[in-house]
Amino acid sequence: MVKEIGTVNQRRLRFNPTLRRMVRDVHLSVDQFMQPYFVAPVSETHKAPAVIPGLTGTYRETPDSLLKQAAADREQGVKSSLIFGVPAAKIPARLKAGSRTDFGSGFDVEFTAQQISKLRQEMGPDFFIAVDVCFCSHTEHGHCGVLSCKGDEVVNDVTVQELAKAALIYAQAGADCVAPSDMMDGRIAAMRNLLDANGYEKTLIMSYAVKFHSKFYGPFRLAADSAPKTGAEPVILHDRATYQIDPANRHDAIACAYRDAAEGADILMLKPGLPYIDILQKLSTEIQKPWAVYEVSGEYAAIELMNQQGLMNGPAAHVESWTALARAGAQIIISYGSRYARKWLEQ
Ligand code: PBG
Repeated sequence: MVKEIGTVNQRRLRFNPTLRRMVRDVHLSVDQFMQPYFVAPVSETHKAPAVIPGLTGTYRETPDSLLKQAAADREQGVKSSLIFGVPAAKIPARLKAGSRTDFGSGFDVEFTAQQISKLRQEMGPDFFIAVDVCFCSHTEHGHCGVLSCKGDEVVNDVTVQELAKAALIYAQAGADCVAPSDMMDGRIAAMRNLLDANGYEKTLIMSYAVKFHSKFYGPFRLAADSAPKTGAEPVILHDRATYQIDPANRHDAIACAYRDAAEGADILMLKPGLPYIDILQKLSTEIQKPWAVYEVSGEYAAIELMNQQGLMNGPAAHVESWTALARAGAQIIISYGSRYARKWLEQ
């Protein structure tokens, strides 16, 4: 006798924890995680690793503490890093009157380059080193590139040229991968060309291709000292809306991803993660490239703060968020909690 159709038992698959794990169709692994690091020179105010509000367990490192932290993280399963150098000196980075290229002293990326080469020496060839390429930590005004003389825009082409030069210096210092987060047009092609012309054909480019103009970058901007300055006349531009993608513009996001893939990006990244998971899902099925997602500082801190208030189980909530990001098609997850991934995924 055939049972009458009407109730289908879905719960049968849920009662046994071993079975629950076995029938999953999304599996996270520590291999997918990339750990961000902030590093700033030692100074009067920066002599030891500094706590970053909201980002429990992540510090603004000193050059020495960076090496110790990376070595300790490797013991916890971390294999891959994303480096943010926060140099001591800031420059005006503003075009001189009447010039389209001259902005004075230029960007000094030596500090970051030195940290890369020391990290490479300390960690050996197998530790993956990606480096953020952007100038928001280098400029007095806090914007990601060179400002126009009037202070009303970030000038595209001169910024792109400087970014490409920085990428080459980072590659020469030993970076496996350069990751431009500035959102200028044409930076991927410019970097690829300059890297190739200098024999760095094997250096990867991970493009922050789909980077939205988001409020979720708050804690990061404290860590990287990179917020666009408000009220600092004569800078007219007070946010990044003229270069980062509008949260309400899907078409722009999609166009940027296709454009950067065509220009030669090896890995495409989307950020923030959870608020933009619809775009990740769509693009990761359409564009056959490795997709990275950045669980940005504000997303990470939201969970940490709720955890501290006793409102949720932080580690489990992080794993749940990461699962969602992987389910939406990300292969690589950049998270401040990467150093805990092995432990948390086992729980
Ligand atoms: C630099 C940059 C930002 C982030 C990564 N690279 C901040 C910004 O664009 O203001 C954000 C990362 C995070 O919030 O964790 N341009």
